[in-house]
Amino acid sequence: LRHLTTLEHLPRETIERLLDRAETMRDGCAHGTRKLDLLSGRTILNLFFEPSTRTRTSFELAARRLGADVINFDIGFSSTSKGEALFDTLHTLEAMHLDAIVVRHKVSGTPEELVRHAMSGVSVINAGDGNRAHPTQGLLDMLTIRQHRPDFSRLTVVICGDVKHSRVARSDVHALTALGAKEIRLCSPQALMPSADEFPQCVITDDFDAAIEGADAVIMLRLQKERMAVTDLPDEAAYFTRYGLDNRRLERASKGALVMHPGPINRGIEIASEVADGPQSRILEQVGNGVFVRMAVLAEVLGR
Ligand code: CP
Repeated sequence: LRHLTTLEHLPRETIERLLDRAETMRDGCAHGTRKLDLLSGRTILNLFFEPSTRTRTSFELAARRLGADVINFDIGFSSTSKGEALFDTLHTLEAMHLDAIVVRHKVSGTPEELVRHAMSGVSVINAGDGNRAHPTQGLLDMLTIRQHRPDFSRLTVVICGDVKHSRVARSDVHALTALGAKEIRLCSPQALMPSADEFPQCVITDDFDAAIEGADAVIMLRLQKERMAVTDLPDEAAYFTRYGLDNRRLERASKGALVMHPGPINRGIEIASEVADGPQSRILEQVGNGVFVRMAVLAEVLGR
């Protein structure tokens, strides 16, 4: 794998290899090996055009744990604010002999555009583009699920919330499909539903009480207000009543169902604190797994 721009069409073996590798990194860390020198002498650039807490920090941590040098490109203080075009920024940064660029951008397809326009052998890793893909989030979600429910062929997953604007939902569906999940249910209000043509393999519904019934994993999504017109914003209290996850609703899922959320969470809008902080919550485990998945991806694309 030279680049990681999406999980769509990625073979099951590649996804499993990355998860195995992330698991090896996690085991090593548990046994005290927090630093490796696999990427010593390599330089990785974090190029985030949208805000991030988890993804950016964990990519930086992952790169440092592998011995690489990391540059966090500060868009606010860059020549982007003076009107420099994306590809001129790319070529300028490439001239400094980078090995990998980790990019987040609001425009879907930007990572592929960077791959097409790159002049050096730089690897491109997608850290989230528009509503299209967030492949490392998809992988860390699979790692978290696999830790607790290793047999995907018996797994029913419900993804609930603003599916229409969610790159996480798309990457999760691609990964769950590749790994052979038994059933994937997508639940959202009509206005936030994707087209059924995009997800022929999924059950699509606006009834969360029905969708959560017997689910083994419940992945909640926040309302992506930054991608919505103000007039499309739902009333938050009414939204929580129909689509919020509280303990009462969680009881409909299978016993011990995994509660997941890519973060950031909006308490009282899509998830109640009693669930987010409750015994079934895997949300912080997801964050921890993000570092190991990103270590695995960096090591893979840089050929180590
Ligand atoms: N899950 C996720 O992408 O979180 P950040 O926006 O904080 O990186």
